[in-house]
Amino acid sequence: MVKARRMVSEHLQLVDVVVELIDARIPAASRNPEIGKLIGGKPRLILLNKADLADPVVTRQWLDFFQESGDTALAVAASDSGSLKAVPLTVSSLAKPALEKWQAKRRLPRAPRLMIVGIPNVGKSTLINRLVGKKRLTVADRPGVTRKEQWVRLREDLDLLDMPGILMPRIGDEEVGLKLAATGAISDAVFSIEAVTLYLLGRLSNLYPGLLCKRFQLNNLPDDVTNLLQEIGIRRGALLAGGKVDTLRAAQQCLDEFRDGRIGRISLELPNR
Ligand code: G4P
Repeated sequence: MVKARRMVSEHLQLVDVVVELIDARIPAASRNPEIGKLIGGKPRLILLNKADLADPVVTRQWLDFFQESGDTALAVAASDSGSLKAVPLTVSSLAKPALEKWQAKRRLPRAPRLMIVGIPNVGKSTLINRLVGKKRLTVADRPGVTRKEQWVRLREDLDLLDMPGILMPRIGDEEVGLKLAATGAISDAVFSIEAVTLYLLGRLSNLYPGLLCKRFQLNNLPDDVTNLLQEIGIRRGALLAGGKVDTLRAAQQCLDEFRDGRIGRISLELPNR
């Protein structure tokens, strides 16, 4: 991890803009809390990725929250090129002051440079692949770049560092860890599948009871998440010999349906104002 951090801080010097990818379903838990310290005054674009899986109303609230905090943020789905249209333009405008300074000093124009950072599984590789498209051109021999990094020139005249910076999430408390596990950001080995699913069911019962009832064809939600998991197990046929519910299988099924967006567009965190 020290290595990953070093990679980010070393490459920071080479870029004009840092694109910080976070998960739109858990914008707070999916941030590395030290990012601000790490990137210092470098312009930053926050992308709330996987917005296709998140509740659009809550995502709007997060965008307002970031804007009020003085940050530039966009909601995107890295898997959908159409949602990325505003990214190059926003990066270019954030890079403008640095490029003007560069040009004034060296009298040479150059394309804005950016790097993408974020926690594991947040969609960094998907985003790089989408931005780059099919054509993968390596940019070499450009002023100021003497190392062997791979840069790709994007169609919009931006140079992208073809290697994402990996930041680790900080699991400060158990709830943050459970949110990260629910969205698949940390390995299923950290918490038991049942614990993650019971947490998720508790959260969904509070925030999206209607979606839960609809998905699992329930008239009412049981008042206890353990009973809810039992009901889901029965409805999904996750049963052991003898007819008892196989809670592990039921929990895994439920988690898969949440992660794939089959329960609905869900956000697990609201901005704290
Ligand atoms: P990383 O480099 O940050 O580690 O993440 P990566 O791009 O590998 O993406 C992790 C998973 O998230 C992938 O799914 C990817 O398809 C999915 N993903 C990335 N961006 C989006 C998005 O905007 N919306 C949705 N719905 N999914 C997204 P996977 O199941 O691990 O692999 P696969 O299904 O692509 O084979």
